[in-house]
Amino acid sequence: MNSTNQSLKPLTTKINDNGNIEIGGCDLVGLAEKYGTPLYVIDEYTLRSVCRDYRDAFKNYPKVNMMYASKALCNMGISSVLASEGFGFDVVSAGEIYTVFKAGVDMAKVLFNGNNKSFDELSLAMRLGVGRISVDNFFELSLLNEIAKSYNKTADILLRITPGIECHTHEYIQTGHLDSKFGFDLTQIDEAVELILNYYTNLKLHGLHAHIGSQIFETSIYGDEIEILVKEIARLDEKFGLKPDEINAGGGLGVKYTNSDCPPSVYTIADIMINRLNECIEKYKIDPPSLFIEPGRSIISTSGVTLYTIGSSKIVPKGKTYFAVDGGMADNARPSMYGAQYYAEIANKPDYEHADTVTIAGRFCESGDILIKDIKMPEPEEGDILCVYNTGAYNYSMASNYNRVQKPAMVLVNNSQSDIIIKRETLNDLIFHDEIPGRLRK
Ligand SMILES: Cc1ncc(COP(=O)(O)O)c(C=O)c1O
Repeated sequence: MNSTNQSLKPLTTKINDNGNIEIGGCDLVGLAEKYGTPLYVIDEYTLRSVCRDYRDAFKNYPKVNMMYASKALCNMGISSVLASEGFGFDVVSAGEIYTVFKAGVDMAKVLFNGNNKSFDELSLAMRLGVGRISVDNFFELSLLNEIAKSYNKTADILLRITPGIECHTHEYIQTGHLDSKFGFDLTQIDEAVELILNYYTNLKLHGLHAHIGSQIFETSIYGDEIEILVKEIARLDEKFGLKPDEINAGGGLGVKYTNSDCPPSVYTIADIMINRLNECIEKYKIDPPSLFIEPGRSIISTSGVTLYTIGSSKIVPKGKTYFAVDGGMADNARPSMYGAQYYAEIANKPDYEHADTVTIAGRFCESGDILIKDIKMPEPEEGDILCVYNTGAYNYSMASNYNRVQKPAMVLVNNSQSDIIIKRETLNDLIFHDEIPGRLRK
């Protein structure tokens, strides 16, 4: 069965009576006029339909907990939508903890991840009652134990492990291979458990956690990951008499950025995980553990598009034809960071012939700030509205103020209604934290 992450565009995308592209019943040219560009647009219908896919796909295993990896896109509006769909949250910083807390999320359904959590961040997690902390290394075990002791509390933890699985995605987004900066090596788990059992009395171990990478198109590796997690909890039970009853398989499922991408369906991944889990429960003779998953990209990417206004152009003799937009690497770092590819259309010319091959350049002062290389589209003109698809994940969350450009606004669209969920930054926002030392003031 197909799932929403396999769609290139938000599910509500269509051409309306004005001859423009609309999403969530909102004309994209109208949104650009109303809110300005660049503008991130998130389609609530698409977002909720991914949540439904995940819930339906995993419904045959009785103990599944869905968490959304906030790092893909974290703000209070999106957190409220996902909480209303029953999702918990994987967070990686005080900022993400605070955001979901202020959005009214049940903190018991929050898991704190990261390879170098600070004293302050772990303390905040303890104070706000974050449900699980995935401990990444020996240093953190000791630090967290001290913090928990100081609050007279027990920290409920998982151990993040490196399962030794290589997935074929960009090297920057692989995380499960052996020589990775994340988690305990398989050979270090016993030592960590001995420390927890013998010395770290304010830590309670619930299970193991792994995450093998991002934008993954392979399917069988999810089964392999499940087997490693189950085998390890069975071994810990046998060796230490522990009954760890949670496994967290992380996120990683890919999405369709361009027509040539064919990501697997959520239903395929769920079947592979659940079948292997059931087999392993028999094979390793354990009670069925709770299964946690924490997808980010595949939840939020497809529902998001970014609108830009086309400005200047340049035809290089015997070279490319460039059209520049009013955003670029500061609102979407992925193309310049790791050569990510995107698909785009002109929102006010959706049914014109795609006759020209053009390159979409960003406005930032780096030659590498190219959003899309060599894409076929109707010849752009100054003032056209460009819609870049599948920008919901790792766009706003990686955005910067490079060149002192304000971060764009974000709107949530649904049933012909649009609501701001992040305001556009102002020039005053940019200087808000600046100070001129007294001795330099006139
Ligand atoms: C521990 C962990 N969980 C979940 C995710 C989410 O991955 P994705 O957005 O590919 O689903 C990440 C992303 O890097 C991660 O590091």
